[in-house]
Amino acid sequence: MSDDIKAVILAAGKGTRMKSETTPKVLHKIMGKTLLGYVLDNVKNITSNQYVIVGHMAEDVEKFVDENYAKARTVIQSPQLGTGHAVSMVCPELDEYDGLVLILCGDTPLIKEKTLKDFVKFHKAQKSDLTVMSTIFENPSNYGRIVREKDDSLKCIVEEKDATAEQKQIKEVNAGIYCFDWKKFRASFGELKSNNSQGEYYLTDIIAWGKSRKLKVNAYVLENSDEIYGINSRQHLAMATKMMNLRNLERYMENGVTIVDPANTWISEDTQIGQDTIIYPATYIEGKNKIGKNCQIGPCAHLRGDVEIADNIKIGNFVEVKKSKINSNTNVGHLSYIGDSELGERVNIGAGTITANYNAITGKKSKTQIKDDVKIGSNTVLVAPVKVNEGANVGAGSVITKEVPAWALAITRSPLKVLADWVGKKKKS
Ligand code: UD1
Ligand code: CA
Repeated sequence: MSDDIKAVILAAGKGTRMKSETTPKVLHKIMGKTLLGYVLDNVKNITSNQYVIVGHMAEDVEKFVDENYAKARTVIQSPQLGTGHAVSMVCPELDEYDGLVLILCGDTPLIKEKTLKDFVKFHKAQKSDLTVMSTIFENPSNYGRIVREKDDSLKCIVEEKDATAEQKQIKEVNAGIYCFDWKKFRASFGELKSNNSQGEYYLTDIIAWGKSRKLKVNAYVLENSDEIYGINSRQHLAMATKMMNLRNLERYMENGVTIVDPANTWISEDTQIGQDTIIYPATYIEGKNKIGKNCQIGPCAHLRGDVEIADNIKIGNFVEVKKSKINSNTNVGHLSYIGDSELGERVNIGAGTITANYNAITGKKSKTQIKDDVKIGSNTVLVAPVKVNEGANVGAGSVITKEVPAWALAITRSPLKVLADWVGKKKKS
């Protein structure tokens, strides 16, 4: 057998319990990243290819995979007859393949790369033919139960809907993650039966299939059960988001970041934050971002992804930043929108400044460039594409529609009229 490992990710199901008409389950998001994106990111470094099984709203899932994951391929499953049927769709693709296959579900985003590595390592060390990941849940409902033999070895998996009252008491559940020798199990996919309560071809039945052929099957019990939390409903999505967030905040705090109120701060997994930065409450940071050292973010700041912030930067209350780069010692203190922009060093952005990046007629977005030492007065609109050069000042209340030269003052303002005693006269008359 070769050393190769290929991943198969199940993502074709309808996700009925999500009750969504517009979005397939695996494209629902946790802090700006899709459920499937988390799974793909965690397997892409430990497998040579990833096959994503798509079916329900396949075009959307295909588009997502093609645009974001070069080594991943999608395989259609239509109709969707169950998890075992889903895996069988890769049989033609892996005709000659002789290596390991790692199966995951697209609706289990909390699994970590390190855990998957340990799982494969365990599989190899045990010289197993198949290993399934399990964990203990105090409330195991919805999950398949791990049934063990008298000697504690693995017997089979029963789905909740097919379980006897006694089996329902079992707290060890199937995580839906498997590692097996493809050549030894390939034939099982032609032999699965759908004589169960859901009339589906269950992937879980390959355990019993393997056992009946004297193959070595094993379970790997994962201690941190949070990681295999599967999302089937909006309630699960909210719960998983909370779990993911707490895990991220722990990591930031361990690395020397102050999170003033962890119960009220949201930061995505793909955000890097430097030491001694302080994140104030009600801040929401989604997508991929890099924040430097000694910054102050929030309260009530929103970073929407692709944001790169250097050191000693202040992003104050009610400031939204998207797809922008901000260099060191710059302040965006209050009530501003910075999108598709590049800000230099020591820039000050006055309260209520907007980078108008979106042209509603063409639907195009354009860039704003603000060079070092620029001071933008309060309530300015910078109509992109636009550039303000080094050291220039912009007067409060201006609408900037063309390039401002270095060290100039740009100001658009109707002349101030003062009508003496205007109010007084009105009152008298
Ligand atoms: C499945 C397992 C269960 C396990 C749980 C872990 C089976 C029969 N059951 O149950 O033992 O505890 O996951 O989360 O395997 N899918 C397809 N095609 C299909 C059906 C499903 O691609 O025809 C995909 C779904 O999109 C989903 C994954 O497979 O990503 C799991 O399907 P789901 O219906 O959520 O299974 P569970 O009932 O959660
Ligand atoms: Ca599920």
